[in-house]
Amino acid sequence: MAQFSKKIMITGGAGFIGSHVVRLFVTKYPGYQIVNFDLLTYAGNLENLRDIESMPNYIFEKGDITDEKRLNELFNQYHFDAVIHLAAESHVDRSILDPLAFVRTNVLGTATLLNVSRNHWKDKYEGKLFYHVSTDEVYGSLGEEGFFTEETPYDPRSPYSASKASSDHFVMAYHHTYDLPVIMSNCSNNYGSNHFPEKLIPLMINNIKNNKPLPVYGKGANVRDWLYVDDHARAIDTIFHNGKIGEKYNVGGFNEWKNIDIVHLLCRIMDKKLNRAEGESAKLITFVKDRPGHDLRYAIDATKLNKELGWKPSLQFEEGLEKTVDWYLKNEDWVNDVTSGNYQKYYEQQYAKR
Ligand code: NAD
Ligand code: TYD
Repeated sequence: MAQFSKKIMITGGAGFIGSHVVRLFVTKYPGYQIVNFDLLTYAGNLENLRDIESMPNYIFEKGDITDEKRLNELFNQYHFDAVIHLAAESHVDRSILDPLAFVRTNVLGTATLLNVSRNHWKDKYEGKLFYHVSTDEVYGSLGEEGFFTEETPYDPRSPYSASKASSDHFVMAYHHTYDLPVIMSNCSNNYGSNHFPEKLIPLMINNIKNNKPLPVYGKGANVRDWLYVDDHARAIDTIFHNGKIGEKYNVGGFNEWKNIDIVHLLCRIMDKKLNRAEGESAKLITFVKDRPGHDLRYAIDATKLNKELGWKPSLQFEEGLEKTVDWYLKNEDWVNDVTSGNYQKYYEQQYAKR
């Protein structure tokens, strides 16, 4: 059996960001064994990893992060040196429809994983690391000015961000109380390939393609800071290897956009790609009822990560968006597979009354 220099459990590796992180680690570090632990909920899809699934340093294990027994079995089997924790319920609109599902996975699941990690590592913490992947949404909502720094007090406002904030607090509590070696990063909105088409960018691409209404919440004036998913994966790699134990790092693109401006940009890109007359796709824009408690603006100050660890985003937004559109146009089967079945029910429930 091959000897690996590090054995890492990546949770949520079949999801959007997780699959990019798994691919990066499996291909960049052949000496690491990567175990992808994922429940394969509606958001998890092993198709995302088809290209690397036969690599000798990659293993998939299906399971639930709230299942302590299963986690213990895997820790006993693989003797993990590190956990990179991405598994979560991740969509704000779903958290409004079913908040307790978010408490279960994001709070109870993270606490269970922390507890199992501590129990297996407590005799020798040296060389061990629990890396928690979180979001900028824990900081709440900004007005027109200012940025979230690592010192910004938590002020979550949706059931999703409240559950992520709670998980972040548990991570830091395990560090302060039990000395568990932890690192955390809080990232802005990601975009790119393999993004489930319930989130703004892939949903709009899919609807433009299918000539369906483009549901813009409220006036489309809300602002998000967008980062290309592979740049986030690179940041996780950098922080995992060079970050300081017990610290948190903000990750962002210094790339703020109003929702309505993104939708117009996507319409322009897709008019060209689909040989439509200029302005044709924009006719699909439909303003719908706003999301309850809709955070106005997120903006990350990623100076610490840049200054201390030298990371910066690699891709301009327009370029990244065009690459993303190309991927969705080329991967129709992927979109059809993930949008069949339960997603149809969710879509009808979410947009029926808007
Ligand atoms: P996603 O919804 O695409 O993927 C989540 C993955 O977790 C799926 O593969 C799913 O099957 C798995 N999962 C869900 N519940 C599980 C459970 N109980 N046990 C095991 N696996 C389970 O999410 P994403 O967008 O890739 O986000 C990944 C992480 O990054 C999340 O923790 C999220 O909070 C964080 N994050 C996301 C963004 C973003 O823009 N998407 C930004 C910052 C941080
Ligand atoms: P989303 O992709 O759900 O990410 P988050 O809420 O975590 O930032 O939404 C991004 C922005 O787009 C947010 O302000 C809500 C808005 N939005 C729409 O206007 N219409 C939609 O159909 C969706 C899904 C989101």
